[in-house]
Amino acid sequence: MRVLLIGSGGREHALAWALSASPLLTKLYAAPGNGGICALAECAPLDVADHPAVAAFCRDQAIDLVVVGPEVPLVAGLVDDLAAAGIRAFGPTRAAAQLEGSKAFTKSLCRDAGIPTADYAAFSEREPALAYLEGRPLPIVVKADGLAAGKGVTVALDHAEAIAAVNAVFAAPGGGSLVIEDFLEGEEASFFALSDGKTVIPLATAQDHKRAFDGDEGPNTGGMGAYSPAPVMTPALIEETMARIVRPTVDALAARGIPYRGVLYAGLMIGAGGPKLIEYNVRFGDPECQVLMMRLKDDLLTLMNATVDGELARTSIRWHDDPALTVVLAARGYPGGYATGSEIGGLERAAAVEGVEIFHAGTKRDGERVLASGGRVLNVTARGRTVAEAQARAYEAVGLIEWPDGFCRRDIGWRAVARERGTDA
Ligand code: AMP
Ligand code: GLY
Repeated sequence: MRVLLIGSGGREHALAWALSASPLLTKLYAAPGNGGICALAECAPLDVADHPAVAAFCRDQAIDLVVVGPEVPLVAGLVDDLAAAGIRAFGPTRAAAQLEGSKAFTKSLCRDAGIPTADYAAFSEREPALAYLEGRPLPIVVKADGLAAGKGVTVALDHAEAIAAVNAVFAAPGGGSLVIEDFLEGEEASFFALSDGKTVIPLATAQDHKRAFDGDEGPNTGGMGAYSPAPVMTPALIEETMARIVRPTVDALAARGIPYRGVLYAGLMIGAGGPKLIEYNVRFGDPECQVLMMRLKDDLLTLMNATVDGELARTSIRWHDDPALTVVLAARGYPGGYATGSEIGGLERAAAVEGVEIFHAGTKRDGERVLASGGRVLNVTARGRTVAEAQARAYEAVGLIEWPDGFCRRDIGWRAVARERGTDA
């Protein structure tokens, strides 16, 4: 099969790595790709937002499957436009991608289908939103309705902060609708499933570290590290999540004439009342995908074909029991301003550490040199018999990377390691 992979992050490098191992693959293209992906795929300088150009490329290169990594092209309807041109693509349609593209859409679907999630109200005008805040318990959560690259959510500890968040949404260009929801208590976990529109099968679980600094302090980021599985997600909780959240969602969409095909990523809060949905994403998580791919035993391309072709009912998935963990190396200053262009050394020695794979998230190649080109730059990923072993291997590899302009958290996986030791977090 000739495959085109859309995206340029660590998630897409991990997908390229897994696709490259497929016996079905004859040629892999990536658009736009990055310095790591280009070692596995031919990187095409395509404008991914130009759907007719992507379709023309697919026809010219006889592409059998397009794999869409990030949410922006999914929400923009790339899969619909490819389908209209007769090109198979892995990922949900524009209508199905509303699960991530509109918080109000998802909350309303959950309410109609009785899916456990925080109580909420949706607003498209400022005054009623401010009025609703009065009398609501604190903390309270204010979310801009559309895609916000992880920046649209405020967990407000007092009313002044909540009012400021509401005002900010209505002041933003193109802003103007939001959801206000109750604060959920508990431990967060990420749950991934594959859906072909009718059948949904669970993938695996993960947890990520969203804050920039050790001890889960500092500003929110796209994710500074992750591990899989999430110890909090017991088999009973996984079954409950499938039965009460994920399957009812796919069924409710199907009842509205929207078959969901692709990866469904449920952000969950595990509290006293069982799992509750925080949000949906319509793609693999980044960096959660990196740890999932390290644990996947089966052929990714076969699974993607089964998803696109509606054949998941006949499919099962095997995983390595060993946990995997990834440490994000980011440019100093991230998630604020940072410099790009500095050289990274030691990658080969680091990748030689047992059980380690290094995925590039924001790099480019300049001849033989690898240069930083983004905020999150490398995902140093390892598998081990325990989370502690995976963690030790990942940090051993981190220690071999020569990049003075980078930083990472030193405590990725702390909660899972503490659980392993029996000193519960
Ligand atoms: P989201 O972009 O919806 O995942 O929100 C970003 C982060 O905000 C989540 O990972 C949670 O840590 C937090 N968050 C969002 N909604 C809630 C909620 N209702 N209760 C508690 N925390 C929340
Ligand atoms: N790591 C969080 C996300 O991919 O949305």
